[in-house]
Amino acid sequence: MSTAISQTAYNYKVVRQFAIMTVVWGILGMGLGVFIASQLVWPDLNFGLEWTTFGRLRPLHTNLVIFAFGGCALFATSYYVVQRTCQTRLISDSMAAFTFWGWQAVIVGALITLPLGYTTTKEYAELEWPIAILLAIVWVTYGAVFFGTITKRKTKHIYVGNWFYGAFIVVTAMLHIVNHMSLPVSLFKSYSAYAGATDAMIQWWYGHNAVGFFLTTGFLGMMYYFVPKQAERPIYSYRLSIVHFWALITLYIWAGPHHLHYTALPDWAQSLGMAMSIILLAPSWGGMINGMMTLSGAWHKLRTDPILRFLVVSLAFYGMSTFEGPMMAIKTVNSLSHYTDWTIGHVHAGALGWVAMISIGALYHMIPKVFGRPQMHSVGLINAHFWLATIGTVLYIASMWVNGITQGLMWRAINDDGTLTYSFVEALQASHPGFIVRMVGGAFFASGMLFMAYNVWRTVRASDPAEAEAAAQIAVAGAH
Ligand code: HEM
Ligand code: HEM
Repeated sequence: MSTAISQTAYNYKVVRQFAIMTVVWGILGMGLGVFIASQLVWPDLNFGLEWTTFGRLRPLHTNLVIFAFGGCALFATSYYVVQRTCQTRLISDSMAAFTFWGWQAVIVGALITLPLGYTTTKEYAELEWPIAILLAIVWVTYGAVFFGTITKRKTKHIYVGNWFYGAFIVVTAMLHIVNHMSLPVSLFKSYSAYAGATDAMIQWWYGHNAVGFFLTTGFLGMMYYFVPKQAERPIYSYRLSIVHFWALITLYIWAGPHHLHYTALPDWAQSLGMAMSIILLAPSWGGMINGMMTLSGAWHKLRTDPILRFLVVSLAFYGMSTFEGPMMAIKTVNSLSHYTDWTIGHVHAGALGWVAMISIGALYHMIPKVFGRPQMHSVGLINAHFWLATIGTVLYIASMWVNGITQGLMWRAINDDGTLTYSFVEALQASHPGFIVRMVGGAFFASGMLFMAYNVWRTVRASDPAEAEAAAQIAVAGAH
């Protein structure tokens, strides 16, 4: 009996590894965010070195926060959720370990090559071909581990969280491989296989669906597991979650052209992208409402549970950014918002408010469980982190709205004789106070991550991983 149980006990090691690295990369990526935000306040902060210029560090920031921080959070939680909801161990420990080390190698590759200036120049797809190939291999292995585990599940049905994680894995592989089709001319230089407007369309089909499937669908998988768990309530409507799933994945894939309004892209494609983006509001809010309503009868828990607060506030920001996005996709609105800080504010409403907050909430729930502790070392510190993150996000997005609208209006203002009313530098000067507020907001958010690191360190120091595994054995045995 005991051997049978130990064979089915969960693989928590890889979950622990990814969870810790989420915190580490979160601090580095957000710290770098604060640094580049400071460069926009004090341009001299690039120290006159090419490696530390804004242009090189900005893609490093996006790669670190999206793929390193967000990616590790998705790996950690998906491996945890798929095992617990399928009541079975990951299909292969060695393949799971390969995904961990392979993913870290990709990130280290980004850390070295981006400051050196090696880049494909495609946003969110900057990594040159040798690293992109490694990424594809790691990702396909991830898919094999995830879906292999699902095929040997002990439960009858596949919990909806896994549907979202599954779609995120499949679509990310498709996007990455198609968008990276290129011709290498040297070890660190390649040229896209596509040309002109086609290249732009494929890039933003990729870019928008990186948002849709990496930054949204994967985190919705997280939401569907951790919100009901932390609230100790079943999901509000299982039927709505299925409708939400199919509607979301059907619509997202068409919305990419809203990144290319008023460009050489055919006008019909722009209008189609705009229409699909507006319709996208419905499934996005369907999911948000499903998560929120899960708290019916448990709202009082928000008074005492800062982890639940992280999860619920993340849903509020998700609702907010998925309302703002469809509005910005309307061509006339986009003619004002495009190229301005409004876009940057929208990005971080989603990135800080939604992606980072839901990940942080999920980690606070999961870390004690995989390290064999009853709870995190300090609830007070989680509470402090919650307020730093919330205030930081609000300062960030509010300052970017003010800046964005100011910039948009100043750039388009014209005098009676048709000349521009303001020079570009005047609009830049008007943006300076907003840059300062954004930097302060970002520093709030990033310092919250330091609180988290201390709290996690204290929890891990007192941990007993063997106990976590023993508890998992009991959970699995008990389920039979
Ligand atoms: C219904 C949902 C959404 C729609 C329709 C939408 C729409 C838009 C639009 C119209 C833009 C501006 C494009 C431009 O002018 O260049 C944009 C930019 C962006 N959005 Fe959203 N958005 C949605 C949700 C989200 C969420 C939840 C996130 C993050 C988690 C997000 C992340 C981004 C990013 C990163 C960009 C900047 C892309 C770039 O130019 O680099 N969006 N979105
Ligand atoms: C402490 C927190 C953060 C700070 C201070 C920060 C700061 C910045 C700054 C200054 C930029 C460049 C803006 C510009 O070009 O004008 C930027 C871009 C970006 N950041 Fe962050 N960031 C933070 C966290 C995050 C997180 C957690 C994510 C994702 C999960 C994220 C995703 C992005 C993306 C996608 C862009 C590119 C936006 C675009 O091209 O439209 N950031 N960030």
